[in-house]
Amino acid sequence: MSEELLRLNHLSIDYKVKDGYLSAVNDINCVINKGEVFAIVGESGCGKSTVAHSIMNLLPGGNEIITGEIIFKGKNIRESSQKEMEAIRGKEIGMIFQNPLDSLNPVYTVGSQTAEAILLDKVDKTEAWNRVLKLFKDVKMPDAEERTKSFPHELSGGMRQRVMIAMMLSRNPELLIADEPTTALDVTIEAQILEILKQLREQFNTAIMLITHNFGLVAEIADKIGIMYAGEMVESGDVFEIFENPVHPYTKLLMQALPSGTKKDGRLQTIEGTVPRITEKKPGCRFANRCPYAKEICFNETPEATNISGSHFCRCHMIGKEDF
Ligand SMILES: Nc1ncnc2c1ncn2[C@@H]1O[C@H](COP(=O)(O)OP(=O)(O)O)[C@@H](O)[C@H]1O
Ligand code: SF4
Ligand SMILES: [Mg+2]
Repeated sequence: MSEELLRLNHLSIDYKVKDGYLSAVNDINCVINKGEVFAIVGESGCGKSTVAHSIMNLLPGGNEIITGEIIFKGKNIRESSQKEMEAIRGKEIGMIFQNPLDSLNPVYTVGSQTAEAILLDKVDKTEAWNRVLKLFKDVKMPDAEERTKSFPHELSGGMRQRVMIAMMLSRNPELLIADEPTTALDVTIEAQILEILKQLREQFNTAIMLITHNFGLVAEIADKIGIMYAGEMVESGDVFEIFENPVHPYTKLLMQALPSGTKKDGRLQTIEGTVPRITEKKPGCRFANRCPYAKEICFNETPEATNISGSHFCRCHMIGKEDF
């Protein structure tokens, strides 16, 4: 029986903006079990990073309104104090970003930055450096020993991402949130980073929330997938089931937009139209203005999440209606 690690329960996030409240995340429900890889896919602006940042308590602060629950190991961490959250962040939940340079300190070597995280465990310096070297080897850093003495700007994008993963590994978190970790990298390096994430999960049973534009990555590594559109999770469930039997028109369009027949190396291509900016919450399907199947009901009533089978859920008025 798989054990639940993270549950998002009716999570909604609005940003206060000049022209009102922007609905960036709306009523998201999902579960990530221990050791499971949950991929979140969707075009830019669909609210993926907002979900990730809310779990880490890293939203800008000041202009967001959050409702719903973020339950980590049975506890609603939205109710945790700043101090408790700091303890969870990094140690139990780690995060890597698209651009590691934003998280690395330019004036310290990457080795000493990694050691700093380890020294928090009150180990002596020699032991910390031994661990750094081992971690750099674990993430297949070329010339690992030499590289520990490098500054972030001396490394390639792929090497910097390896440093970030090594830093995460040093804390051995139960949940790793990876927000488009390979988007800025070329395909070969992307494959290598993916391999490291896979090993991480096998070795340490780390659960991973993988936010990506790349369906190929999803097929390679994920157990479950959630497709986000305009702040909502329009379809979610077992990866194989959704690849075989996509139900939501948006999921289908995303899959059709993949380069001919290849679900591998499937970076998301564009589909016609743009993601709407929702500043006024009203009934209706958020995808209606781009959906080839839209009917009147779609513009007037919000489709509820409906269970297709097992963990497969979808929000669409078409479900169960043969004559739609
Ligand atoms: N701090 C913010 N203040 C106002 N709007 C924001 C802020 N951060 C993100 N947004 C808006 O929220 C929506 C979702 O953004 P984001 O979560 O970054 O999407 P994604 O990661 O899927 O590209 C977008 O319309 C974006 O412009
Ligand atoms: S509810 Fe209607 S508009 Fe929305 S995805 Fe389904 S068919 Fe398309
Ligand atoms: Mg993002």
